[in-house]
Amino acid sequence: MANGHLYVTRDLGPEPMQILRESGHEVVVHPDRDLPPTREELLEHVNGAVGIITLLTEAMDAELFDRAGPQLKVVAAVSVGTDNIDVHAAESRGITVTNTPDVLTDATADLAIGLLLALNRRIVEADAFLRRSEPWSWGPRLFLGRDLAGETLGIVGYGRIGEALATRARAFGMRVIAAASGSGSRGGVERMPLDELLATADVISLHAPLNGETRHLIGARQIASMKPGAVIINTARGPLIDEDALVDALRNRRIRGAGLDVFEHEPAIHPGLLELDNVVLTPHIGSAGEQTRTRMALLAIKNALAVLDHSGPLTPVSTLGSTGSRRDAVTVPSAGVGKQGES
Ligand code: DGY
Repeated sequence: MANGHLYVTRDLGPEPMQILRESGHEVVVHPDRDLPPTREELLEHVNGAVGIITLLTEAMDAELFDRAGPQLKVVAAVSVGTDNIDVHAAESRGITVTNTPDVLTDATADLAIGLLLALNRRIVEADAFLRRSEPWSWGPRLFLGRDLAGETLGIVGYGRIGEALATRARAFGMRVIAAASGSGSRGGVERMPLDELLATADVISLHAPLNGETRHLIGARQIASMKPGAVIINTARGPLIDEDALVDALRNRRIRGAGLDVFEHEPAIHPGLLELDNVVLTPHIGSAGEQTRTRMALLAIKNALAVLDHSGPLTPVSTLGSTGSRRDAVTVPSAGVGKQGES
């Protein structure tokens, strides 16, 4: 067992915390269940740590690794996306970075479908209408929405979550296309370049990782190329979309709507989005299923302990400690975008 403590940036729930406490490692947990540690608290508590188990709200960078000290061996993310972690800075210090792929795939795909249903069938607007006790008549146009069956869903970032969404969408009778390399159809999903997908899809759902190449993947130009009635769903990362351009397009009804679980300047929400009735907004709850969150915590803990016990991480992001194969390659071809990862 290595000397030094394991710093956990949030209480991960009873079962995961018990496993950690029984691991034989000294465990230091940020005391607030809901709010992340401040930067100052982080810098103070990582000092002397051999491992850090972190949520995506904490920036893990070179300054933090240096503050922790050379004994730091592992940063285990309780998330599939690791854009909050400077993986290169970690690797260059011999620190293994791990994430939690697979275990949140279904939960995130469920939320994407939930946002789409809420948007297309105007569920949130209709709920608010009844709560306002507005006079209710049976007019044929009362909350007229769009059917899912027969619509074309375009998936941008076709990894595990994209695939899980495709399965759900097909069950709803949707045609599914994906911005993926190669051409032709695979498993009932037609592959095509991003530009073609944007011009074809009625619904565009984002599942790409956030990196230098995918930031503002959807901007004014891409929105202009979408069908006028298109809707955008984003359960991946907010900065994939240029929010100013999106708000403009939603305001002037250039596109029909957006279902957003993630935001460009999270946790701040663009004020323009809050004024619109053609958006459905949720506070980054893609993985927020009880069972999913427990599975994520357990996998992150296993990864951290495996690195500290020298048995090799289960799901490494960095090449350090990797057994070679990564299953989470997500590519978004055309516009020069093609990167690994998933969010
Ligand atoms: C992830 O795991 O990257 C999700 O965004 C967390 O909810």
